[in-house]
Amino acid sequence: MKKCCHIVGARPQFIKYFPIYRATEEYNKKTKNKDVIQDILVHTGQHYDYEMSKIFFDEFGLKEPDYHLEVGSGTHGKQTGDILTKTEAVFQKIKPDVVIVYGDTNTTLGGALAAVKLHIPVAHVEAGLRSFNRRMPEEINRITTDHISSLLFCPCKTAVDNLKKEGFENFFNEGNLCGINILNTGKDKNFQDNSVPMVINTGDVMYDVFLYARKIAQKKSNILKKLKLHNKDFGLLTMHRAENTDDIKQFLKRARFINDNFKGKRIIFPVHPRIRKQVQQYKQEFGADIMIIYPVSYFDLLMLLETCDFVLTDSGGLQKEAYWAKKPCVTLRDETEWVKTIESGCNTLMSNFKQINKFAEDNNTLYGDGKSPNILKISCNNLRILGK
Ligand code: UD1
Repeated sequence: MKKCCHIVGARPQFIKYFPIYRATEEYNKKTKNKDVIQDILVHTGQHYDYEMSKIFFDEFGLKEPDYHLEVGSGTHGKQTGDILTKTEAVFQKIKPDVVIVYGDTNTTLGGALAAVKLHIPVAHVEAGLRSFNRRMPEEINRITTDHISSLLFCPCKTAVDNLKKEGFENFFNEGNLCGINILNTGKDKNFQDNSVPMVINTGDVMYDVFLYARKIAQKKSNILKKLKLHNKDFGLLTMHRAENTDDIKQFLKRARFINDNFKGKRIIFPVHPRIRKQVQQYKQEFGADIMIIYPVSYFDLLMLLETCDFVLTDSGGLQKEAYWAKKPCVTLRDETEWVKTIESGCNTLMSNFKQINKFAEDNNTLYGDGKSPNILKISCNNLRILGK
């Protein structure tokens, strides 16, 4: 039996864990006893409001976390430090064979650091992304986590190329998307060489979730009715990044951008708790016919996305979801990690914005084939190679 310990704590991580959780269940059904994977889930408690955490467990039918560390909010040092010490205690107790971390949050970094210092191999889902803006906490978390990981699961070719430039040398399938066939045969010439960290282009787990959930959302979500969005003529806005909201000047710059370009337009804004008060206080600065609502569930968000005319966001996940749903997107930042969405014309940075255009059709192949839970299989194969 292999012990695979997943560290989650912030909203997008519950979503990214879901396809791996399902893949584990399917894998275990087909697998003989000794190869079964024990899935151990650790929730750091970075996000704790119902709408930021439990709602995703309920909606996706995820199991209750095996450990809940309840770290809550705090400065970056305090939050990351608490995650580090508390995950360390869990790892010492359960002795996992591999620790899987997701994305770029303080939860990602804290969990990865605790594991690597105990000589437990770390697998990083969503490795290799860079904004090249070191003032973003997420950029520091990404760079550090990548450089202490043994398995780096990249969502796209851009991420693979970033890691190449940073000196990584061991690329599974030469950094090309790692399809299920290659995995089954295991015939890649580098596959057995795990003396150095291995970079694997798996595609984006969020695409898997998107494909799965978009069908269910149509049936289960009643958000359009609840918000009385009958005429289907609205934009969807999300904004929560520290660099855009902590500094009031940056926050107001974005509000005024919306005022200048979308005056009078109906805009639905599910507000992250970190900026709830601020948004209420400066609501009129947005100019638009803005509807402020609580954070929504994943199915509700997809329903809003599928129905809206355009997306305004500083979220990484929503930029890609807009691309998959074929909705034009304006990213409320000066740079993005998802550069191909910009190059393809489907996404525009705020600084380059002129007007909302029709969605620029492309062949939708930037982020994999929707079968990323291969990650699980690779992790298991590599446990053997890692000498476990
Ligand atoms: C975190 C991630 C960010 C990710 C985002 C997704 C880091 C550094 N940032 O940002 O990359 O895009 O999650 O949502 O890890 N709060 C609540 N209730 C909650 C959670 C947070 O009220 O359930 C408030 C608290 O005041 C807290 C603040 O939001 O201090 C910030 O939360 P934190 O988890 O530190 O970062 P996020 O802004 O959510």
